[in-house]
Amino acid sequence: MAASICILTGASRGLGLAMARQLRACGQRLLALSRQPNAELDGRDVEQWAVDLSQPAEAAARLRVWVAALPRNQFASLTLINNAAGLATLAPLGDVDAAELSQALRVGLEAPMLLTAAFLDASADLTVPRKVLNISTGLARSAIAGGAVYCAAKAGLDHLSRAIALEEAARPNGAKIVSLAPGVIDTDMQLQLRSADAQAFGERARFASLKNEGRLDSAEAAAAKVLAWLERADFGSNPIGDVRDA
Ligand SMILES: NC(=O)c1ccc[n+]([C@@H]2O[C@H](COP(=O)([O-])OP(=O)(O)OC[C@H]3O[C@@H](n4cnc5c(N)ncnc54)[C@H](OP(=O)(O)O)[C@@H]3O)[C@@H](O)[C@H]2O)c1
Repeated sequence: MAASICILTGASRGLGLAMARQLRACGQRLLALSRQPNAELDGRDVEQWAVDLSQPAEAAARLRVWVAALPRNQFASLTLINNAAGLATLAPLGDVDAAELSQALRVGLEAPMLLTAAFLDASADLTVPRKVLNISTGLARSAIAGGAVYCAAKAGLDHLSRAIALEEAARPNGAKIVSLAPGVIDTDMQLQLRSADAQAFGERARFASLKNEGRLDSAEAAAAKVLAWLERADFGSNPIGDVRDA
């Protein structure tokens, strides 16, 4: 049986890049999606697509064709990790540029929805295990002022995952799905949170102290926790998870 296959969005930097490195080291075959492919990932078992997930329809259509063309059941498992996301300017909702709000929502929620739909439909005939892992956040479950679009996209991702879990449970060989909060991680996204305008974003000081107090996980440590969750025997028994509860 050939290696497992993993489709990973946002593989170029941060948590996604760390997951890509670890998945590749385990011998998984990767399809990596981001705007800027990372040359470090180039290699025989990695295919990279340069796609802007704020325009997700085309990427989802392309993914559907790619999954449908895989040799049927000739690999150990098939996984989609929806990891890409971005923050709009951190400020009260009415102060954020409308195009920026729309773009962040599309990357954070519309793209995972369309990619997951394409993935599930094009792989429905497979009998090998299929998993969808949506990267959520504690902020999906506990809102902050100045982060409304990010909180909304991630809360939507959580509830999308709950609904899909019900649908897939009713199908033969249904996919397993989890929306998982990965902890707080030392990436560009955290830098954006602690560099925001302090007047517009009252939570800035809290994010600065997470860094100053050494409470951020490295991307590598966070990736190991997330990928360990993916390997749990009970993966998907609860569609909502947090690596801090492991
Ligand atoms: N960092 C944290 O503390 C933290 C905490 C909780 C949850 N998370 C979640 O963890 C995931 C990874 O975050 P991170 O901290 O690693 O963020 P990051 O360092 O900012 O990386 C974001 C990734 O998403 C990709 N991306 C962003 N916009 C995109 C677009 N329009 N089209 C395609 N790809 C796009 C980026 O690639 P390109 O720029 O090449 O497109 C990059 O690979 C996110 O879902 C985030 O919400 C992070």
